[in-house]
Amino acid sequence: MSQSAAHDEHSSFIQTPKQLLVVLLLAFLVPIIGIVMLVQLILGETNPNPAALEPAAVAARIQPVGRVEVVDANAPKVVKSGEDVVKAVCGACHTTGAANAPKIGDKAGWAARLGQGLDGLTKSAIKGKNAMPPRGGVPDLSDYEIARAIVFMANQSGASFKEPAEPKAAPAAAPADAKKDAKK
Ligand code: HEC
Repeated sequence: MSQSAAHDEHSSFIQTPKQLLVVLLLAFLVPIIGIVMLVQLILGETNPNPAALEPAAVAARIQPVGRVEVVDANAPKVVKSGEDVVKAVCGACHTTGAANAPKIGDKAGWAARLGQGLDGLTKSAIKGKNAMPPRGGVPDLSDYEIARAIVFMANQSGASFKEPAEPKAAPAAAPADAKKDAKK
């Protein structure tokens, strides 16, 4: 009989009320801690950066590859001066002599070219020549702006071109509207 008593002794490790209390507490706390950790894991993973869910950030992420820029066609085009064009575009090559561009001020470099006259040089710059890209690589530049840029550069390099006349702007809509208003 003593064998069975020994067996009973080992059948349960909860022997005292204190042990029971500890087991109950653990049985209660362990799952709760587990759930809290799980929730934190899930929340942390799906939303690592709250800023990424801002409408602007989402729109930037899912924007299509192409974009449409709305430009007011009636806005007056600001005609750049020769100096501005040279500073912004042509100077990249023509102040440094990059790619063997005739440098501003290099009279020898320009001398052979000046024979074409301003018209010839302008046509050449519009078309492009060897390493010289058409319109200096900026298709937005008008013929007039190109010509002025050439005057600006060439006149510092031995030429004495006159500023070309500004092409007449297309008749603006404003005066017609003004007349209509006057009739009323
Ligand atoms: C990427 C460099 C580069 C830029 C930008 C550039 N040029 Fe040039 N340009 C050259 C080179 C190189 C030549 C010499 C081409 C040759 O004769 O082989 C040249 C030559 C010229 C010539 C002489 C053409 C001829 O027939 O001899 C003119 C005029 C000229 N450029 C005007 C301009 C104007 C105006 C701009 C700005 C709107 C401009 N370039 C921007 C590189 C450039």
